[in-house]
Amino acid sequence: MTVQDRPLPTDTGILSPGNSDKRDELIEMLTKGYWMEIETVMSYIANSINPDGVRAREVVDHIEQDIQEEIGHAQQFGQRIKELYGVVPGSLEFRAGQSYLQPPEQQTDIVHVIKGVIEAETQAIEHYNRIIEFCDGLDLVTQDMVVTIQRDEQQHRRLFEGFLREYEAEGRV
Ligand SMILES: [Fe+2]
Ligand SMILES: [Fe+2]
Repeated sequence: MTVQDRPLPTDTGILSPGNSDKRDELIEMLTKGYWMEIETVMSYIANSINPDGVRAREVVDHIEQDIQEEIGHAQQFGQRIKELYGVVPGSLEFRAGQSYLQPPEQQTDIVHVIKGVIEAETQAIEHYNRIIEFCDGLDLVTQDMVVTIQRDEQQHRRLFEGFLREYEAEGRV
């Protein structure tokens, strides 16, 4: 882990010298969240452009809107990494993992995209749950930030679950 500075010794909580191991662990979790957001932006850009068909329009519009929110989340994770005396990583450290958001065989297969979005949001929600629990009684500032981000992800997931339900009701899934 690259550490650029050290907090002043008078700090308490997550910034206290006694908590440096926990701080390193938290920075690692935040860095993972940062990369998840960045990869989601990549996947959402592709999946907001590729789909064909009238029915895909509504879905694509929402994916487009979410891109901006995911960029904002990445920036917040980055800011918090810095505030905790970590360093936001460079692009060479990026490793992809969103196999479920690769382009489908047929670009009219919007259900594939909807399911991929639901999976991406679910993985984010689960990782952010781990951060929220880790921060309990340790770092309420990070906890508060991640709780707010998690709500956005829950809203994203809920919306796409609704799209999926509509297709299921039509027997298209
Ligand atoms: Fe996000
Ligand atoms: Fe999201």
